[in-house]
Amino acid sequence: MNPLPQLLLAPMQDVSVLPLWRCLERRGAPDVYVTEYFRVHRDSHPEKYILRSITELKTDKPVMAQMIGNDPAHIVRTAKLLESRTPCAGIDINLGCPAPTVCGKQAGGALLRNHELIRRIAEELRPVVRGRLTFKTRIGFESPAEFEALLDLFASLPLDGLVVHGRTVRERYQSDVHTEDIARAVERLPFPVVANGSIVSVSSAIAMRQKTGAAGLMIGRGAIRNPWLFGQIRDDFSGREIARPLLRDLHEYVLELTEEISREGDFEKESQVVNRMKKFTNYIASGIHEGILTNELRRATTLNGFRDSCREHLDNDEIFADEPKEDGTIFCGLVDLKSATL
Ligand SMILES: Cc1cc2nc3c(=O)[nH]c(=O)nc-3n(C[C@H](O)[C@H](O)[C@H](O)COP(=O)(O)O)c2cc1C
Repeated sequence: MNPLPQLLLAPMQDVSVLPLWRCLERRGAPDVYVTEYFRVHRDSHPEKYILRSITELKTDKPVMAQMIGNDPAHIVRTAKLLESRTPCAGIDINLGCPAPTVCGKQAGGALLRNHELIRRIAEELRPVVRGRLTFKTRIGFESPAEFEALLDLFASLPLDGLVVHGRTVRERYQSDVHTEDIARAVERLPFPVVANGSIVSVSSAIAMRQKTGAAGLMIGRGAIRNPWLFGQIRDDFSGREIARPLLRDLHEYVLELTEEISREGDFEKESQVVNRMKKFTNYIASGIHEGILTNELRRATTLNGFRDSCREHLDNDEIFADEPKEDGTIFCGLVDLKSATL
């Protein structure tokens, strides 16, 4: 096993976007970026704002383009388009989204109940995709007991890798992660497996690696909260001392992200920028000063109010805690399943 796992930034609709990616590039970037999903159906065109994250990020790191859909012909059409129009490193297919509107259309997590369709998507994509072809799955729809049959299926597919979010679709985002199932995938599959789910700190990254032996670790919410996390994990696995950021460094990051967001979006009102920032600060402020900052930021309506609260709580030399909360959990309430569409 390579001593250093590959570190991937998880796809996250509306938050894992160009402004965040630019902030991460300046603080110890992931080894691989994955876009939020492009919606694929009969009339779909790749969303321009997601395309821009692939074409405009200044990085030497690969960017994978993720798609969600259930029609192999249109998934193939979109894959060709993405590979011809962008420098993406390959295609990833979403088999995990739990949003009712997506699952209701038999896409995302609902595909886990249709093995034949998963096979068709993989087999029709393989001859077309020039870069890497990967899937991102959960361990079942209703129950982890479904994973055994899914592993038989995945083992027979022409994939270059699989990301396993160690929860079922029903378990959504907060339950304990079934690391033993990720470990089974690592043992059984002939291609590299990436472990995903609630890695929020160096110690949870070490634990995930030890329990699963996965070739890679994918981090989502924990990297929004702590943009230094990829660098810290890299340093720890390489035997180097870990940098310990202060709240002052976090303050600088929040201000920089606010600037990047304001510049990127087509905002008519300042309150729209503030609302956009709340999607990030719910993760970033998690656990700081017993939740007082989170509450203040949720109530903010102006950029001045938002910045004043950040200054009051973050402009100091306190050490930024390793874990979001004492029990290691991370905020999940903002995973807006109603806004996810296909
Ligand atoms: C706000 C939000 C949006 C997400 N959007 C996507 C998405 O577009 N595609 C996808 O495969 N997973 C998506 N996910 C799931 C994450 O990629 C990841 O699997 C999940 O958050 C668990 O990892 P974490 O605990 O490190 O955050 C999303 C998660 C969150 C929190």
